[in-house]
Amino acid sequence: MYILGISSYAHESTCSLIKDGEVRIVLEEERFNRKKHTMEYPRYAIEKCLAMEGITIEDVEEITFFWKPQREVTGNIKHVLKYFPASLNLLKGRPQGNELPFVKRVVSMQNVGQTIKRHFSLSQAPRVEFVEHHLAHAASAFFVSPFEDAAILTIDGRGESTSTMMAVGRGNKIKKIKEIKVPHSLGHLYAGLTDYLGFMPFFDEWKVMGMSAYGKDAYVKDFEDVVKIDESGEYRLNLKYFKFHTHGQSCWLSDAFMEKFGPKRVPNSDYDQRHFDIAFALQAMVERAGVALAKKVYDITGLPNLCMSGGVALNCLMNKRIIEQTSFENYFFQPIANDAGTTFGSALYYYHQVLDKPRQHPFKSVYLGNTFDNDEIERVLKDKKVQYKKSDHIAKETARHIADGKIVGWFQGRMEAGPRALGNRSITIDPRDAMMKERLNERVKRREFYRPFAPSVLEERVDDFFIRPKGNMSPYMILIADVREDKKEIIPAVTHADGTARFHTVNKDVNPRYWELISEFEKITGVPVLLNTSFNENEPIVCTPEQAVDCFLRTEFDVLAIGDYLVVKG
Ligand SMILES: [Fe+2]
Repeated sequence: MYILGISSYAHESTCSLIKDGEVRIVLEEERFNRKKHTMEYPRYAIEKCLAMEGITIEDVEEITFFWKPQREVTGNIKHVLKYFPASLNLLKGRPQGNELPFVKRVVSMQNVGQTIKRHFSLSQAPRVEFVEHHLAHAASAFFVSPFEDAAILTIDGRGESTSTMMAVGRGNKIKKIKEIKVPHSLGHLYAGLTDYLGFMPFFDEWKVMGMSAYGKDAYVKDFEDVVKIDESGEYRLNLKYFKFHTHGQSCWLSDAFMEKFGPKRVPNSDYDQRHFDIAFALQAMVERAGVALAKKVYDITGLPNLCMSGGVALNCLMNKRIIEQTSFENYFFQPIANDAGTTFGSALYYYHQVLDKPRQHPFKSVYLGNTFDNDEIERVLKDKKVQYKKSDHIAKETARHIADGKIVGWFQGRMEAGPRALGNRSITIDPRDAMMKERLNERVKRREFYRPFAPSVLEERVDDFFIRPKGNMSPYMILIADVREDKKEIIPAVTHADGTARFHTVNKDVNPRYWELISEFEKITGVPVLLNTSFNENEPIVCTPEQAVDCFLRTEFDVLAIGDYLVVKG
């Protein structure tokens, strides 16, 4: 039985295909239409999904959607009444960035069946099952987790009107325990401060997290008044510091916030220590709130297993604290924790919760995207008129280039779903030289100096270099480890200012070719670690060989290892 899960018109437009409860394909529309964080109907992703599986839309028995628009309408009416009359300003608010106006968005969501009908010229619109957003997040984690029973915690900006949900999963059912509603939202808190620090909310939270490592404890005490965490483990935003709940997302913070913490940073202007200290305080409060919530759901459920999802669950520093400071024994941080994951989450919710089907397919990897064979790749190389050669030992030859200080694009196998490149659409360099990081930034990535680069490490050797939080592996680069004191000088390019690293443990069975690349690098250098960053240049991660070659030619990479082919710049 095929179920197609779709997200659109809000955050990462994505489509997933599940077959008999197994997540087969997850494709983000941005990889195809090349618009970062696109909210458009995922036309190309849906078409590719069906083509990859060799089926048509008629073979899909059910379509699920990651949001319940009617629930949002009800929630918004309550919200406007609660904050009346200041909330009348919301009616004047203009959408930000590529966001749709509220009415247009809700109508588009509600009519997604009609859009599918037009897209495929169907005689009638297919039935669409609208799934509550946080239940879709919860389902995306629990139903693919290795646990029979688990506590579930989902945290994001908002889904309909919910920002945080606690639930319990038992067998093939999820039961909601508690919800926190907007405006009390850790995701919106982070978005508001991202805007305050001169970045794009919902896009650039990574930058703020990176900045926090350069901050000092100057404002944490003051932030305790901004985010109130009560003894029961719940949090509330002190609304005197906020304005978005009455004036919309073009106006996140109030005058009271500016008076207390100073003016907003002008985008692209210089930084001063205050900006880093505010990022530090924000991060500290999000970690505290996350730990408090996790402790609370532990106390309620008494279960040893925790599943987490939602955009805020991509905050790997918070995840580290949760592991360190809660009594759970086992953790599953679903790696496609942003809204892309709610596509298979909504589909799995329907399959298990509604149809009562048993669970059989735990999550194996994020390699759920499209793939290209050597013939397809060679055709592209010929079309692009680049000099290339076929290698019988692509991992070995590429490792030699990396050890020689080259910047290497590594394009292999099925594309990763979710925000992280995990060795199939990656750029890799030698982590032993801190200057390599500067070179990578100057020539390809152009990142701010405070943003860390992450290491991929052979699973067998991880403990020689990193202190894993409570012994957890990090196959999806969603956890933080402390770098061992005696190894910081050996891998400076991937050791952040605070001595940590967002580590990626590479398993031989899950990604044999990438494992082999690191292993060959270790044979040359004695270091079983590579710096790994996504294969792109201020654009969505590359998806096709054409995009990979174009990115390679446009930027200043040295080597492209694509399938079994090597392209070396002269
Ligand atoms: Fe979400």
